[in-house]
Amino acid sequence: MEQQNRVEITMESRSVNEQFARMAVAAFIAPLDPSVSELTDIKTAVSEAVTNAIIHGYEHTPGEVRLSLSCEGRCLTVEVSDDGAGIENIPDAMQPLFTTKPELERSGMGFTVMENFMDEVRVISEKGKGTAVVMKRKLS
Ligand SMILES: Nc1ncnc2c1ncn2[C@@H]1O[C@H](COP(=O)(O)OP(=O)(O)O)[C@@H](O)[C@H]1O
Ligand SMILES: [Mg+2]
Repeated sequence: MEQQNRVEITMESRSVNEQFARMAVAAFIAPLDPSVSELTDIKTAVSEAVTNAIIHGYEHTPGEVRLSLSCEGRCLTVEVSDDGAGIENIPDAMQPLFTTKPELERSGMGFTVMENFMDEVRVISEKGKGTAVVMKRKLS
């Protein structure tokens, strides 16, 4: 039987909500009985996108981060969006090691992690308006 489901969560842009987002996506895909590695990959990708919204989108100022989860059968779609700073040049930003905050740990590898752990990563962004990251992963 084809399963369809959708959940949307709106969070304040606080670092503590990165963990919330990880647990929310884990709970969302629990009925699909993911493998341990699928679970780890997906949680990590979501946490990278949420962290980016908080630290780059809003630079730790108050704002709204939206996490939208949906599945069709075993295909998961996750969208993380913010109304923050936006990205000037998306292809540059997605290059491994590219960062506008070189002082941070593991700098510049967030999008690379998302691309390695998910089947598809699409970024929609406009400078000054915000960013949406849409990621897809088919569970085995
Ligand atoms: N939600 C976002 N809003 C604004 N800029 C972003 C966002 N997500 C990513 N970026 C930009 O893309 C760059 C690369 O992101 P990433 O690969 O996660 O590396 P890092 O977070 O270590 O800088 C960031 O340095 C930032 O300039
Ligand atoms: Mg990052």
